[in-house]
Amino acid sequence: MSYLMSNYLPLEITFVKGSGCYLTSNKGDQYLDALCGVGVTGLGHSHPEISKAIQSQAQQLLHTSNWYHIEHQEALAKKLCILSKMDATFFGNSGAEANEAAIKIARLHGRANNIDTPTILTATQSFHGRTMATLSATGNPKVQAGFAPLVSEFIHVEFNNIEAIKQHQNNDDIVAVMLEPIQGESGVIIPDANYLNQVHEICQKNNWLLILDEVQTGIGRTGKMFAHQYNKITPDILTLAKGLGNGVPIGACLAKGNAAKLLTPGTHGSTFGGNPLVCRTALTVLEIIKQDEILANVNKISNHIAKNFTKKLKNISAVKEIRVKGLMIAIELDQDCTHLLQLALDKKLLINITGRSIRLLPPLIIDKAQTNIMIETVCELIEAL
Ligand SMILES: Cc1ncc(COP(=O)(O)O)c(C=O)c1O
Repeated sequence: MSYLMSNYLPLEITFVKGSGCYLTSNKGDQYLDALCGVGVTGLGHSHPEISKAIQSQAQQLLHTSNWYHIEHQEALAKKLCILSKMDATFFGNSGAEANEAAIKIARLHGRANNIDTPTILTATQSFHGRTMATLSATGNPKVQAGFAPLVSEFIHVEFNNIEAIKQHQNNDDIVAVMLEPIQGESGVIIPDANYLNQVHEICQKNNWLLILDEVQTGIGRTGKMFAHQYNKITPDILTLAKGLGNGVPIGACLAKGNAAKLLTPGTHGSTFGGNPLVCRTALTVLEIIKQDEILANVNKISNHIAKNFTKKLKNISAVKEIRVKGLMIAIELDQDCTHLLQLALDKKLLINITGRSIRLLPPLIIDKAQTNIMIETVCELIEAL
């Protein structure tokens, strides 16, 4: 009998060790990790420099409080702001917490503009987290089922449909648009190249904040540090988590301009948020991404993956679409393929299934030989359907 609540349905496997792109089970078997704990361990397991930084910080200082200055927190905030052209950062412990901060800032932006019922546009099929506000923002009834009454004043509009946003321009209660640049949890949905630029323009025209949830797409996952950099725009608010800590729990909400000034003393906080351990780790993550030219690897491997999947799967009728942006990959099939999760595990490969899509989020450090194993295994699974 398990003493854990039954909100997860884990596969029958336990991992006890990780190294680079591989995980080792308690039976001693090695698995190629093409999921990275859902987009988290981008730099691989037990990265020597990250392990060293964690070890050294653990020996020095784990936690104080946000009631005192924290050196590594200030250094990390500065680095993130320079990378993203933002002005200020709030640290929490997860993606949901980063998005909670963003939602609170959007409401304050409304209040500052005398809007009594500040309302946020979010997208259908989106995913923003599991707290009450973030699941209310999420455009997926399955995530919301059973949790009504939801947090109000979110309006869901069709993703990648600019007209759906324009329709709300006369609604004086709108204060922000909150989007993922690429929808991850709903199966790597990549919008038209110009979509974010158009949303950005509408936001600027209407004094709406553009909130980009880069919890999954950020920190190199798409081949740029942040996915919105493909559009050469800067959002008003940017949220990060997952890859930022490579496995230590950290979330960040960054803001620019007036939005960066709306949280004032006492309006928001987090006991653990931005403690010395996680910030030192995240600083190391950013350092490694730069020093090891990780983005160049992501782009090289991404092209290799797109080319090979397209070539190898072109005559398979079950394949409806192959979507690749950096190392966010989905292969959409014409049928439910949930059972492939176990079949992949039997072949020592960790993947994710999202409805009818096989989803892969391999490590940003994956090399060509490891990538070829992933490609071959996935193709075998699809061919055997
Ligand atoms: C885009 C996006 N936002 C928010 C979240 C929630 O992050 P967390 O699970 O760290 O709260 C996720 C998690 O998958 C995500 O993909």
